[in-house]
Amino acid sequence: MEDPLDDDDFGHIFASSDLVPGWLTRDQARVLHDEARRLGRGSTIVEIGSHQGRSTTVLAAGARAAASTVVAIDPFVTTTRYAGPSVQALLEENLASRGLDDRVRVVADYSRAVRDAWTGPIDLLFVDGKHDMGSCIDDLRWRRHLSPGDRVLVHDAFSSLGVTLALLAAALPSNDLVFLDRTGSLARFEIGRPTTRSRLRMLGQTGWWIRNLVIKVLLRLRLHRAAGLLGHDQPGNDPF
Ligand SMILES: C[S@@+](CC[C@H](N)C(=O)[O-])C[C@H]1O[C@@H](n2cnc3c(N)ncnc32)[C@H](O)[C@@H]1O
Repeated sequence: MEDPLDDDDFGHIFASSDLVPGWLTRDQARVLHDEARRLGRGSTIVEIGSHQGRSTTVLAAGARAAASTVVAIDPFVTTTRYAGPSVQALLEENLASRGLDDRVRVVADYSRAVRDAWTGPIDLLFVDGKHDMGSCIDDLRWRRHLSPGDRVLVHDAFSSLGVTLALLAAALPSNDLVFLDRTGSLARFEIGRPTTRSRLRMLGQTGWWIRNLVIKVLLRLRLHRAAGLLGHDQPGNDPF
C-alpha cells in the first residue's frame, strides 16, 4: 500500500484531470485517487461509466503507483445526454496524452454484459453509469466480486433521484454494505456487516438529498438566486 500523496502532488494530478469535462469535484477526485492508491500491487479497479475520462484519469493516476489496472466500462452509445463513439475516442486520447493508457482497459459495453462474463475478483468498484434506479441497483451487484474491507464508491448519491432510490432500496437493507461517508455526492461504502449506527448514518444523508431535490426544482424554475441561498454555487449544474 502506497503512502498518501501530499496536497501539492495531488494538485498536479487534478490540474490535468480537470481539463477533462465531467462532473467530479476536486474533493471527490481526491477520494477516488486515494482509494485507488491504497490498493495492493496489481489490483483491479472497475469503473462503470467513464465518459471522457475525468474520473478514469484520476483513478488511473492512483492506480499507477501500485501497477493496478482500471477496467473502464462504458457502452459509448448516443443518448439525449451523451454522445456516442466519439466519446470513446476522446477518452482514449485523454488517457494516452497523460501516459495513463497502460493502466486502463477500456471496455465499450454495458456494465451488465461485462458483469455477466466476469469471473475474477476485483478490488475497488466505482459506480457512475446509468442513473436510473434499476441500472444502479444492477451495477451494485458487481460487489459480489469484492472482498470484505474493499470499497464501493457511488457518484451522484443523495443527489440523483434514481441513484438515491437505488441506495435506499439495495444498500440500506443489505447485509454486506457499510456506509462510510460522503464527499458531496460521492458516497463511500465498505464491504462488511452494517451496524445500526452505519445504517442511521446513511439515513441521515436524506436531509441533504431533500435539499438537492429542492435546488433542482428551483433551477428548473430558473430561480438561481434562491438556489444560491441554499448554498448551491454551480448555477449551470445540478448539485453533485
Ligand atoms: C455521468 S457519466 C460518467 C462520468 C464520468 N465518470 C466522469 O467522471 O466524467 C455516465 C456514463 O455512463 C455511461 N453509461 C450509461 N449506461 C451505462 C451502462 N449500462 N454501463 C456502463 N456505462 C453506462 C454513459 O455512456 C456515460 O458516459
